[in-house]
Amino acid sequence: MQARSTTWLWMVSAFAAAAVLAAIVLAVFGAGKLGTVVALQISARFSFLIFWLAYAGGGLVELLGPAAQPLQRHGRDFGLAFAAAHLVHVALVVWLCWIGGTPAMEVFKFFLPPLATVYILALFSIGSLQQMLGHTLWRVLRTVGMTYIAYAFAADFVSAPLGGDTKHIIMYSSFAVLSVIGPVLHAISFAPPLWRARRATDRV
Ligand code: HEM
Repeated sequence: MQARSTTWLWMVSAFAAAAVLAAIVLAVFGAGKLGTVVALQISARFSFLIFWLAYAGGGLVELLGPAAQPLQRHGRDFGLAFAAAHLVHVALVVWLCWIGGTPAMEVFKFFLPPLATVYILALFSIGSLQQMLGHTLWRVLRTVGMTYIAYAFAADFVSAPLGGDTKHIIMYSSFAVLSVIGPVLHAISFAPPLWRARRATDRV
């Protein structure tokens, strides 16, 4: 009961922070197409940072030790907070369409499948549904789904060339670096069970 109410707090806080961030951008740049596109860029990066902690947290624990343990302990909280924050991105897309700036069909084709993946994973984070899948299938679904979402972010951040002015480095290069490190850290989080299994096999 305690854990569930805390998770809701994470989700509400992440959604509220993303909404406030978007409102500030729209107030500064206007609620027209320019302001909405800037708000989309900011909201995507805010969501990505929360997602990254959920995705890479396990690997950080392996590298940094107990100091990073809270990241792993709150993996589910970060994941669901990301799903909540990303609703603001979706709301901005709807607003962009409403004001006549509907993105190209390619953008929908590229981003709708990872978007569906976000909320399928959120659904299966519910204990009873997860139990139906079983531990192994859930871990496979979680890793494949999260890596697919990571790819959707990376495709955008990495497509911009490295370097450039300070604004470019902050908006693209830094996120591109995180996009590349994320899957590596996620893979590292599997290392200990594999090492343990191998040592056990060696002993037999
Ligand atoms: C999991 C799903 C999604 C992810 C990972 C994602 C990721 C991103 C990222 C990284 C950016 C920043 C682009 C940049 O600064 O160059 C962005 C912006 C944007 N996204 Fe999303 N997005 C998702 C869902 C969607 C959906 C469903 C749409 C609807 C078509 C959409 C439309 C846009 C638009 C129009 C922008 C502004 C692009 C620009 O800079 O001109 N996104 N998104």
